[in-house]
Amino acid sequence: MKILAIETSCDDTCVAILDDLTCIKNIIHSQDHNKFGGILPEYAARNHLYSLPKIMEGLDLDSIDAIAVTYTPGLLGSLMVGTSYAKALSYSIKKPLIGVHHIEGHILAAQYQYKLQFPYGALVASGGHTLLAIVRALGSYELLGVSLDDAAGECFDKVARGLGLPQPGGPALERLAEKGNPNIKLPIPLHKDGGFNFSFSGLKTAAIRANGNPEDIAASFQLAVAKIMAERLSNAIKKYPKVVNWVLVGGVAANNFIRNYLEQTSINLNSNIYCPEARLCTDNALMIAYAGKLYAEKGIFSDLNLEPRASFSLTEYSILRSSRTN
Ligand code: KG4
Ligand code: ZN
Repeated sequence: MKILAIETSCDDTCVAILDDLTCIKNIIHSQDHNKFGGILPEYAARNHLYSLPKIMEGLDLDSIDAIAVTYTPGLLGSLMVGTSYAKALSYSIKKPLIGVHHIEGHILAAQYQYKLQFPYGALVASGGHTLLAIVRALGSYELLGVSLDDAAGECFDKVARGLGLPQPGGPALERLAEKGNPNIKLPIPLHKDGGFNFSFSGLKTAAIRANGNPEDIAASFQLAVAKIMAERLSNAIKKYPKVVNWVLVGGVAANNFIRNYLEQTSINLNSNIYCPEARLCTDNALMIAYAGKLYAEKGIFSDLNLEPRASFSLTEYSILRSSRTN
């Protein structure tokens, strides 16, 4: 089975082709929003509109069996471009369409790389979302907790901006932190509450206001994010002892310090944490293609009236999926 996937939920124009489990193409065209001081939604949508047809031009679509597309959640204008293109293509080449949830794509990226079996736990940390969930089956995600304020990646970006670093801030802040010492005391929100929700905004504000050299602020902030994630993860591992496999996914999972820190947390609790290689952590269409393949194998497809949605919780999405499972 050969799946073409399109992912335009934020500021990367991504197209992939997956042939069974072999990656044929994984194209990522990143946009530069630095001149706006943050992601400008209208610019993102216009840029997708320009780049997507160019990327598609060179592809051989003859042997494609189905088209997967991210239709939720994300920037509405950006989602509209990818979804409209996928729908028009599906209609014109007469191949079925599969609408995929962006967070589901991030989660399944780890399953793709490590061939995991359901159920497993997931810690998702991206630019727009931070959450913990138990993945019961394809399309069945039991949400344990979410961020009550900012997402982890968003904080990396904002603290990085405060330190004068370019966007996306995560990778730049990680490089700066390597040269620093985590010697600045910063708050750990929700510490010892025993729960699964996240809070980062108090930490973000404290890091932006902190006095010290930039390297030490970066190292202290990164350590605090790792501590927050590790505490939430260990609360979840302890509550669900039968779930021995966990995945760490989303853009922030590309951070080596955080990967190593959470790996130690899981080892201490006799569980395993799987983290995809960095190019599968940040936005890409390969993860959407893999999700599409799993749905297509079950004969589950979407209508051509698939509507992009800016927000869609994993809980609501799971309810929709359970009502439509073949
Ligand atoms: O998953 P993703 O590519 O896009 C969204 O779905 O949002 O995540 C992007 C986020 C950005 O906030 C970016 O700064 C962060 O992931 N990120 C990182 C690293 N690489 C990307 N954060 C920390 N360390 C990194 N190495
Ligand atoms: Zn993402």
